[in-house]
Amino acid sequence: MASHFLLLGIMFLIFSVALASDHSPLQDFCVGDKNSPVLVNGMVCKDPKLVQADDFFFSGLHMVGNTSNAVGSKVTPVNVAQIAGLNTFGISLARIDFAPFGINPPHTHPRASEILTVLEGSLHVGFVTSNPENRLISKVIYKGDVFVFPQGLVHFQKNVGYGKAVAIAALSSQNPGVIAIANAVFGSNPDISSDVLAKAFQVDKNTIYQMQSKF
Ligand SMILES: *[C@@H]1O[C@H](CO)[C@@H](O)[C@H](O)[C@H]1NC(C)=O
Repeated sequence: MASHFLLLGIMFLIFSVALASDHSPLQDFCVGDKNSPVLVNGMVCKDPKLVQADDFFFSGLHMVGNTSNAVGSKVTPVNVAQIAGLNTFGISLARIDFAPFGINPPHTHPRASEILTVLEGSLHVGFVTSNPENRLISKVIYKGDVFVFPQGLVHFQKNVGYGKAVAIAALSSQNPGVIAIANAVFGSNPDISSDVLAKAFQVDKNTIYQMQSKF
């Protein structure tokens, strides 16, 4: 009986590992058809006979992102929304520009792990492990260095140099998704009730209203 449970446990583990990233393709490609009215998990395939090189192409990652904003960073995504040919491939890219001392605020990607390399400047990067440890694993990385952010974990980057910084991130999903912690918690639409947030953060409601006014 116990061995049955062990077997079930192992099968569950294998099954859940198999589902930990985007599904594998079942054909050479399945370029997403943005005009299809059919709703599926991902995108419907465009007729392969109509597929062109441009379906696999994006130009623009040489462009410097505009970091004139409250956090001093700009993410330029290149995922299935920009390249329909990424549909079913489980990968995507992003360019991240940082103003001096700019940050990419704490956020998570619900569907992807991330591997990031610094092209220019230096970044303080880190992620926090899940409950109950909530351990911060962080490091300062420099041009040519690579750092990994595990799927689903809250992570951030900060430019710790006096010049600008640039990084390229690769992600293990065609559509990684972004949950910016502050925006999700204090900037939801409609608001999460201040009762909930005051108790969750152990502060008074005025502090919550102040936070909500920023997001
Ligand atoms: C950058 O963004 C700011 C704020 O939105 C805007 O005022 C400025 O014109 C932009 N700069 C460029 C070069 O697009």
